[in-house]
Formats: sequence, C-alpha cells, structure tokens
Amino acid sequence: MTVSFLDLKAINLVQQEELEQAMRRVLQSGWYILGKEVEAFEQAYASYCGTRHAIGVANGLDAIFLVLKAWGIGPGDEVIVPSNTYIATWLAASHCGATPVPVEPVEGTYNLDPARVEAAITPRTRAIVPVHLYGQCADMEPLMAIAARHGLKVVEDGAQAQGAMYKGRRAGALGHAAAFSFYPGKNLGALGDAGAITTDDDDLALRLRTLRNYGSQKKYHNEIIGFNSRLDELQAAILSVKLPALDGQNAQRAQLAAVYDERLAGLPGLVLPVVPEWTRPVWHLYVVRHARRDALARALADLGVGTLVHYPIPPHLQPAYTELGYKEGDFPIAEAIHREVLSLPMGPHMTLEQAGIVADAVRTALINLS
Ligand SMILES: Cc1ncc(COP(=O)(O)O)c(C=O)c1O
Repeated sequence: MTVSFLDLKAINLVQQEELEQAMRRVLQSGWYILGKEVEAFEQAYASYCGTRHAIGVANGLDAIFLVLKAWGIGPGDEVIVPSNTYIATWLAASHCGATPVPVEPVEGTYNLDPARVEAAITPRTRAIVPVHLYGQCADMEPLMAIAARHGLKVVEDGAQAQGAMYKGRRAGALGHAAAFSFYPGKNLGALGDAGAITTDDDDLALRLRTLRNYGSQKKYHNEIIGFNSRLDELQAAILSVKLPALDGQNAQRAQLAAVYDERLAGLPGLVLPVVPEWTRPVWHLYVVRHARRDALARALADLGVGTLVHYPIPPHLQPAYTELGYKEGDFPIAEAIHREVLSLPMGPHMTLEQAGIVADAVRTALINLS
C-alpha cells in the first residue's frame, strides 16, 4: 500500500458539490473582481481569526510585502526574518527595497528565537516577520515585547498556520498584522493563488485596501502608488466553502500527528516535532529530523511512502541572495535543519491507519539504515 505525501484532488472532492455551486454562482454573477464574494470571505476570515479586518490579496508573498510597504518600509531599512523559512518571507522585505536580516530559530520548534532577536536590532531595523513554520506559532509574547521596547512593527507570516492557536488566541491576531497564503496545498487552500492580511488596525486596513487596488479607493482616483494584488471573486467563493471545514480538517491533522508521535517515539536518531504547551499547532507539515535524511527519504520511497523536504536550501545560501554575502556556516542552526528535516505524509486525505503504515515504514527504513 502506498501513502502519498498529499492528495489535493481527494481533499477538494470531498466538497465537490458545494465548490461547483460556488463557482457557478460567481460565473453567473457577471462580477469577478472585488465584489460580494471577497467581502463575505474577508468578514468570515476576520471573524475566524478574531481580528477587526481581513483584506484579501493575490497571494501570501504579496500579503507580507504589502504590509511592510504600507508601513513605509523601504531602501535603507532592515527587516528581521527567520534564517529558517520559505524564501517568500525574505522576498517580501527585498521587494520593498529593505534588507532581510536573518535570525536563527529555536532548535526544537524551528521558529524564530526571541532570545536572539535583540542582538540583530540596529537603528535601521523597522519590523520583525516571525513565521509560524509548519503550522506552529512562533513565541509571539516575547517578540511583541521586544518590538514594543524598540518601536518595531510585527507582521506574522501565517502562511502555514491557518487556525493555529497561541495562548488561547489564533494566529492572525497575535502581531500588528498577519499575512496568510491560501496556496492550494495550505491548510486552507484555494484552487489557485490567493492570500489575505488580518489586522485590528483600522488605518492599516484602509491603506492595504488602497494599496492592493492601484492605490485607489474610488475608481480612477489614485491616491498612492499602488499595486494590483486582489483576491478574486472565484477564489473568495471557494475559500468561503472551505473555511467552515478548516477546524475539522485541522483536528484530523492533529490526530494523525498523535499517531506519528506515539508510533515514532524513541526511534534512534529520529527527532520528532517539539510542541510547547502554549501552542496548538495545525500540523501543516509533520517534520522529523534525521542525520541520514536523504537515505531515509529514499528508503521510504521504496516502501511506497511519499515525503518532501521543507526546505533543502536556506534562503541565505540561495543564489538569489548572493549579494548579501553570506556563506555556509553563517547560520549553522538553519543549515543543519535544512540538511536533516523530512516531512512525512500529512493532510485530511489520510486515515489514521495510513499514518500507522507510514510509522511502520519509518521504523523499517531506520532498521535497514542502521
Ligand atoms: C512561510 C511562507 N511564507 C510565505 C509564503 C508565500 O505564499 P504564496 O505562495 O501564496 O505567495 C509561503 C508559501 O508558499 C510560505 O510557506
């Protein structure tokens, strides 16, 4: 029996009828950009996250970028980002003309280490972008305290964490603003590119609504130099169908993670995810760590188990960032993580029995490797 890493078709077909109805509704409405569907989803998502506003945008990268831009961050400014993240977090700072300044993560949780942030702050620092990596919230309380002490802004990168909880509050309601991606493979995924920003800040929300739409609040009146980064009606309608299913699907992911936790505990050389008691992750990914990661991945493939690596090369070693002048060894924690992490199959396409099969396969693979 094979277990695929992810099966988006199976996940979406569970709601086939409702999705088709929503798509037909948009088709027949004759209104495709910034209309009732976007408004309805924005309200539903803001209320889900517990924020005053949600602003639909084209994708997750734009969501982070537009927030930084709305705060006036630009050339000469520095933005603190995790050394261990998907490159989009860094790109958002770069697209503003600012410099991403990497800070290493906590080993156990893989998330930005608040204890290291203060040392990276300079007179040019304007903002911090903590990432809730793999679906688990970064330690936001100390990060917000540091930001308050230094007059910095904080935008959560919640691309992987729709629904995650931190000390009783949801991702999206923890920073001054939060950015979400609804890329199809995310816990809340559209059928194409989509994103949103959440915030309690009325002024920021208005500025973002203007920025995403050519800098315009009134058609053909342009107040600021804006962008075209809008969530479209079709994706909004699809997301409105999928949002009510999110908590159930996240609970299913948690059950799968519990099977992995139990069945993989104590295997030699295998490091399991660490969950501090103040978070409730949504298991966008279940990531294990092993010194012989590539051999383990190959052995699992031979046993019919799909895996992926999130991510193989840290941003500071990507050719895109050669101009920052970093070299191997500059961020050893992130580099070791990138060498050793392996994501096991995870998602609402899976049964608990399949998680058991994956766990058995990991066990067998590790015995064969030793
Ligand atoms: C941590 C993180 N930030 C940002 C993004 C960017 O999102 P998008 O692909 O929607 O631009 C992603 C997803 O791809 C991500 O995983």
